[in-house]
Amino acid sequence: MNVDILFLNNKDMQALGAEDMQAVLNDVEQAYMLTEKGDVLTPGKCVMRWGETIEDENKLGRINAMPGYIGGEYDMAGIKWIGSGPSNYKKGLPRASVILVLNDPETKLPVCLADGTQISAMRTGASGGVAVKLLARQDAEVMAVCGAGAQGRTQLDAAVIVRPSIRKVNVYDISAENAQRYVDEMSAKYPAIEFTIAPTAEAACRGSDIIVTVTLASVPFVEADWLKKGSLLMNLAGNEVSYGCIEAADKIVVDNWDTIKHRMASTIALMADEGLIKDEDIDAQLGQILDGKKTGRDNDEQIIFFNAVGTGILDLAVATRCYRKALKENVGIKIPYWR
Ligand SMILES: NC(=O)c1ccc[n+]([C@@H]2O[C@H](COP(=O)([O-])OP(=O)(O)OC[C@H]3O[C@@H](n4cnc5c(N)ncnc54)[C@H](O)[C@@H]3O)[C@@H](O)[C@H]2O)c1
Repeated sequence: MNVDILFLNNKDMQALGAEDMQAVLNDVEQAYMLTEKGDVLTPGKCVMRWGETIEDENKLGRINAMPGYIGGEYDMAGIKWIGSGPSNYKKGLPRASVILVLNDPETKLPVCLADGTQISAMRTGASGGVAVKLLARQDAEVMAVCGAGAQGRTQLDAAVIVRPSIRKVNVYDISAENAQRYVDEMSAKYPAIEFTIAPTAEAACRGSDIIVTVTLASVPFVEADWLKKGSLLMNLAGNEVSYGCIEAADKIVVDNWDTIKHRMASTIALMADEGLIKDEDIDAQLGQILDGKKTGRDNDEQIIFFNAVGTGILDLAVATRCYRKALKENVGIKIPYWR
């Protein structure tokens, strides 16, 4: 029997809806709900880092393997293989690059090889978006984006869908050039929103209803006394917020607690490692709130902390939707794999 693998490059994936944030939000919600139903397989992320420490990794790079299976309407297995080259920008290349392999869950044979670079940024934006939908104040108006990179863009793309009330965005980045590029691009995309480049993280965060941190920082730069009542703080990369921020939160919500502890990079994972956070301190996973088993925001005063490190099944969900569309519409290149 002949087996082909469908190859989909970044342009194909774009045409197939990988950058349709509304659709990605739906895929990500489905993935979180299937996780709570136990209809997924999410073995831990395997991190291949260069160097000994997180500081080395941030300079020299890493490649992570994130295998998984997602059930429900997706019913697909596969792996996300994501490289991070911190100096890539000098060559005009993206820092993060992703190849996704989709495997038929019955035969386990590979059926598709797809670029997943944009999916990775989109689905992380959508994770933040689902958190904003469930955990931010309904009338949230001011958002601080700390880290004006690829993720900083998709965080805003998702947030404005679930909170069209956002009217002001404070942008903070250690690179003035990146902050300016972000503001130029995003203010053209969202002309009704007022964009400000904040000179410090404090200026960006104080008074914000939603704060998202998506930087490469390995030293915390957000402090607890900057958080206003009723705010949502979303730590979506490494050790970016002080322990005090998590201690100040009335509620702690995560995407997947086991994965966070396994990855051991974000602030709350480091606290858990030091025994400062226990499993029972985690109020909810997003899927439990989506399922109605737990509540999201309970009142307008709560400070809520959210952390997500992501699992490969989020990417698989988006890629599977695009793959099925590609088969219907005859998009991509069929590679003869088994003859
Ligand atoms: N939680 C998840 O599921 C998930 C998924 C993908 C990426 N990430 C993480 O998100 C982060 C951002 O990814 P990206 O693709 O947007 O990267 P990027 O390189 O495109 O952008 C990062 C931005 O952060 C800025 N920055 C670096 N250090 C900073 C600091 N100390 N303070 C303020 N700004 C700083 C950089 O100047 C850059 O503009 C990475 O750490 C990545 O690992 C998380």
